[in-house]
Amino acid sequence: MSSSQTKQNTPSFPATAAGTRFARIAGTGSYLPPKRLTNQDLVAQLAQRGIETSDEWIVERTGIRARHFAEPDVPSSALGVQAARQAIEAAGLQPEDIDLIICATSTPDMVFPSTACLIQNELGIIGCPAFDVQAVCSGFIYALTVADGMIRNGTANRALVIGSEVFSRLLDFNDRTTCVLFGDGAGAVVLEASDQPGIVSTCLHADGRYAKILNVPGNVRGGEIMGDPTLKMDGQAVFKLAVSVLDKAAHEVLEKAGRDASCIDWLIPHQANLRIMQGTAKKLKLPTEKVVVTVDQHGNTSAASIPLALDHAVRSGQVQRGQTLMLEGVGGGFTWGAVLVDY
Ligand code: UT7
Repeated sequence: MSSSQTKQNTPSFPATAAGTRFARIAGTGSYLPPKRLTNQDLVAQLAQRGIETSDEWIVERTGIRARHFAEPDVPSSALGVQAARQAIEAAGLQPEDIDLIICATSTPDMVFPSTACLIQNELGIIGCPAFDVQAVCSGFIYALTVADGMIRNGTANRALVIGSEVFSRLLDFNDRTTCVLFGDGAGAVVLEASDQPGIVSTCLHADGRYAKILNVPGNVRGGEIMGDPTLKMDGQAVFKLAVSVLDKAAHEVLEKAGRDASCIDWLIPHQANLRIMQGTAKKLKLPTEKVVVTVDQHGNTSAASIPLALDHAVRSGQVQRGQTLMLEGVGGGFTWGAVLVDY
């Protein structure tokens, strides 16, 4: 990126005095790898290993009907680049207009450098800060909150915030309690400085005492994988905690904004389980028609699930400019958070 290009494409952004500068969503994008497995496909594959499950159980307990899996040689960065290009195009921008890249992922291409740096290189952007955020399924909410803060304080004007995952790599296909739940994909948004919100309020939380109920305990030592590198989850414990913290997080951001739940046009929660999403809506007294649901077609794509759902809702015409969105994430760590957006 040449400095003349940057200047040419940079309008005069608002000053950083408190309360006068916000971040608004300028564009969204997403990408799903082409290989799609229905529950029936997965049930048949698992049966060959002697693992018993059924379409009925998966649909009834989770709402999931299909998921996408990336080919073995396709890393998170490749999915993230596709989603990022779409988001930049939807914002009416060029890659060189971006001055901050944050990628939320728990399935990075490498131990280092960050997936954000690999995406930056693929997009041909040079010089802007690029880093990953690791907060598992809350990762996108964490990344969006960090980007919002960096835009508000004047560190950035146009941030690319990506959630990209290849969770299929972490699955133990002999464990039916987890392997039917997850999928691969990526979503992205471009945030732009504005004198109007935008992102109205945010909250982030973590409680490391619960690290053991959802984790991938393995690590790399001396050139070998130590411990188990596949996903472990105490589903019921995660379920109970998720319903409770999602409700608290939603109320926290509403309170910060001085609003109540009646302002929410769309609830876009982390897509892990339809029952958790419906439970969250019920606690907020929102009709289920106001919940954006993609878990049925994507499964749980961890940090990618919220931007994937957002982009699908934008492109399908569900989400319209001027509406208010409640984005909420929850996942390993234990981590959780929410972002209230005037779209
Ligand atoms: O992304 C981070 C956030 N993650 C989540 O939010 C996930 C939260 N947890 C959940 O979504 C649910 O707890 C699960 C979908 C994981 C499990 O649903 P559940 O209703 O809590 O089921 P369960 O663990 O209580 O298991 C009920 C039964 C068990 O059999 P018994 O012991 O009652 O005979 C399981 O062995 O279902 C059995 N089971 C299955 N049966 C068929 C577990 N997995 C399967 C399966 N197919 N795939």
